Amino acid sequence: MTAPGRFITFEGIDGSGKSTQARRLAETLKAQGLEVVLTREPGGSPGAEEIRRLVLEGDPDRWSAETEILLFTAARRDHLERTIEPALAAGKTVICDRFADSTRMYQGLSRGDLRDLVDKLHILMIGREPDLTILIDMDPDIGLSRALGRQGTEERFESFGADLQHRMRAGFLDLAAANPDRFRVIDGAADMDVVAERVLETAKAELV
Ligand code: TYD
Repeated sequence: MTAPGRFITFEGIDGSGKSTQARRLAETLKAQGLEVVLTREPGGSPGAEEIRRLVLEGDPDRWSAETEILLFTAARRDHLERTIEPALAAGKTVICDRFADSTRMYQGLSRGDLRDLVDKLHILMIGREPDLTILIDMDPDIGLSRALGRQGTEERFESFGADLQHRMRAGFLDLAAANPDRFRVIDGAADMDVVAERVLETAKAELV
């Protein structure tokens, strides 16, 4: 029997640089001979990518907060079944750009106090946490200007503004403090190569 692979997630506010860091970590580990699956949320499987378009594009008021939580959770369930769990079972390292902590923050904080609902649905339908979560911590004012500079169709969440991003940063740090067993916080304001080095060290400590 193959030993199950490790499940590593990246979290952070919009523009924190976590997607770049997730990609760099995947490339470095692959170059070192590890079997790595790099994936993202919302998305990461064909069905979940369809749901991604439903939630991230179009009129921001298209869904109620509750419906949005269901859609993110549906996408995560499909991603878990079709991509993450098969890869872990085959002994691969799964690196995922955002996972349930993003729903805890974005849906749990941004549209009223829905954290309890998010947590209950997670227990019911997802029921697993990553082995390691790397939080790329970033000053929201810097993060927001980076995110807005990107100009995509997925502006829905990124146009929420500075106040929400500040609350989100604090929320992620609280989440990290409450789950010290799996969270590691890395300063995203440092030079990109330095951040990448710290990320690699942190991941390697988990992978031994
Ligand atoms: P992402 O593509 O990771 O954007 P970025 O590269 O800016 O981090 O995520 C798209 C948006 O989806 C992002 O603003 C966060 C939001 N999101 C949620 O609101 N809830 C979730 O559960 C997830 C996974 C993402």
